[in-house]
Amino acid sequence: MTAEEKVGQMTQVTIDVVSRDSQPHQLDPAKLQTAVDRYKVGSILNVMGSAYTVDHWHEIINQIQDAAAKTRLKIPVLYGLDSIHGANYVMGSTLFPQAFAVAATWNPELAQRAGEISAYQTRAAGVPWNFYPVLDIGRQPLWPRFWETYGEDVLLATEMGKAYIRGLQGNDVGARNKVAACLKHYAGYGLPFNGKDRTQAHISERMMRQYFLPTFEAGVKAGVPTVMVNSGEIDGIPGHANHHLLTDILKNEWGFPGFVVSDWQDVERLHTRDRVADSPKEAVRMAVMAGIDMSMVPFDFSFFDLLMQCVQEGSVPMPRIDDAVRRILRVKFMTGIFENPRPDPAMKAAFDQPAFAEANLAAAREAITLLKNEDHVLPLARGRKILVTGPTANLHTVLNSGWSRSWLGLEEELFSKEKPTLLGGIEITAGKENVTYVPGTSFDKEIDIAAAVSGAANADVIIACLGEPAYCETPGNIDDLMLDGAQLLLVHELAKTGKPVVAVLAQGRPRVIHPIVPVSSAIVMAYLPGLEGGRAVADILFGDVNPSGKLSFTYPRYPNALTTYDYKVNEVLEGNHIDPEFEFGHGLSYTTFTYSNLKLNSPMLVRDGELTATVEVRNSGSRPGKEVVQLYVSDLYRSLTPPNRELKGFRKIELQPGETRTISFTLKPSDLAFVGLNNRWITEPGKFRATVAKLSEEFTLL
Ligand code: BGC
Repeated sequence: MTAEEKVGQMTQVTIDVVSRDSQPHQLDPAKLQTAVDRYKVGSILNVMGSAYTVDHWHEIINQIQDAAAKTRLKIPVLYGLDSIHGANYVMGSTLFPQAFAVAATWNPELAQRAGEISAYQTRAAGVPWNFYPVLDIGRQPLWPRFWETYGEDVLLATEMGKAYIRGLQGNDVGARNKVAACLKHYAGYGLPFNGKDRTQAHISERMMRQYFLPTFEAGVKAGVPTVMVNSGEIDGIPGHANHHLLTDILKNEWGFPGFVVSDWQDVERLHTRDRVADSPKEAVRMAVMAGIDMSMVPFDFSFFDLLMQCVQEGSVPMPRIDDAVRRILRVKFMTGIFENPRPDPAMKAAFDQPAFAEANLAAAREAITLLKNEDHVLPLARGRKILVTGPTANLHTVLNSGWSRSWLGLEEELFSKEKPTLLGGIEITAGKENVTYVPGTSFDKEIDIAAAVSGAANADVIIACLGEPAYCETPGNIDDLMLDGAQLLLVHELAKTGKPVVAVLAQGRPRVIHPIVPVSSAIVMAYLPGLEGGRAVADILFGDVNPSGKLSFTYPRYPNALTTYDYKVNEVLEGNHIDPEFEFGHGLSYTTFTYSNLKLNSPMLVRDGELTATVEVRNSGSRPGKEVVQLYVSDLYRSLTPPNRELKGFRKIELQPGETRTISFTLKPSDLAFVGLNNRWITEPGKFRATVAKLSEEFTLL
């Protein structure tokens, strides 16, 4: 390969660069020729505007690969899309609950199924590469990308991420129904100091290894061949200039054989925004030498030109370029695009299967979390008169948010009217004649709260659909985690009627609702439940499905009392207290579960040994139900302050009324390890406490 051919492989541009300006979308053959032939680009990404039909994707991919086939080396172009909660840029695709909701199912099989279906529908469009999963953990609820994560806990996020990857990639990324995953955004993106997207985080090496690297390491071990970089900065080092993370740890320590792709425009931003590079060329040199193999430029060929200059003057040595290109070509081979660069038209027939919608519905049903249910106001009996109100009642966008048919997911008209909104789902289940709808407010704006209050006059129960409008990335930044005043006022005014208020929350992060918690009889966290969300919420409200979702994060009570479930003990001593609105792992059911007989098979755990914890769980209520059995371990003393507890195992089970099951968990010394003073994983002998529900037992690690 010539230097130009190599540098071209390292260049990724957005589809806009090879498209006409006119509508409907069309590629521009001359621009395509320039990109593929003159600049030899290795990869193209994204949609211009909003989602395309499968047929249009086929035209696009065929045209691109035809152009690539005419170049000297005939290397196919690797097309990449953000299939975040399904193949969201392909019209008609299944849109699953967003990741923080999938995590709330605590059921990895559902994450795997979401991966399988997303892979099928992405590949059916002819696209072999998906920029997902987000394996940042969400420990800062203000962050507008919170919902793209599998929640705040390392173990839960790791297990969900691994299951999704299994579904997406299977054993062979090159299979025609699989796509290559991309772990993002490496690493520490999810803890911005001020909660704003793409801003500074302060994460020591120890914290990084303890909380933010394990999910990524698990993804690398699971065979994910690409990694996308953190757009923000850690301790003053922009993600895209972080040689230690990208090269020392990812490539050298973990032996990652795949390639590292930059995030959107972030190489250039080392100069324009981060100011660690005093010229655009220095930015390119810095990024490539830090370990970036492919630049998502994405609007021009500046990266190509500047990297060619670096190569010619020797500031980027050829072995670094060769290494990057080898990695990129390896992934191209893995995805099978050398053999099959073109979409498979036969996949189109099975694009939209009833089984896909069923799997989606199952995920939404298991995600939705019943947070409060005073006096058993839920489930609602059929035949009652219902007032439905609130800004999220009758929109599809609020159930899906960003990465839904378009980047910001704001266009209602892009959603099929066949799928019900929250209001639609309630009308179908309760009967239209029993439902009155009055919007009351929009987001942060009163429409007519008085009309909603009068609408309640003939109602037996009020369902207030609250939450957030659709958003994605930086446009979703907020200055206050409290739910807006108009929505809080709506609930207060409705509660004054004396009718029970059921609050349904469709939102991408835990907006603080403390002022209305006491006046709401029931609270249902719908998260961003996806296309089947309207139906699934109604199934829960009316008891056709017994809720089994459990929070994948801590739901704060006050905007300035943010913490995670694994807080330090000093946070609860001496006048401090941790009192979240709803705890991580919390979620009610219409039945009750009784825990008993937590037993350890030994009071000691020896090195290289195992300890088995067993607990009996009984469905002590009158309905079948699913429960998530959660095992936490507390290290009572360690050389660095221990968290109060850490999740070490979980199992989702289904029990019939009266049924008892014994659940067992195995603990190894490595499960009790932590990142010690020397920044390495260590175990320390001493006393530990295992807790399941309200039961606990102590043991000693020898
Ligand atoms: C986001 C990435 C995404 C990329 C390509 C960026 O703005 O941060 O998550 O994969 O755009 O769409």
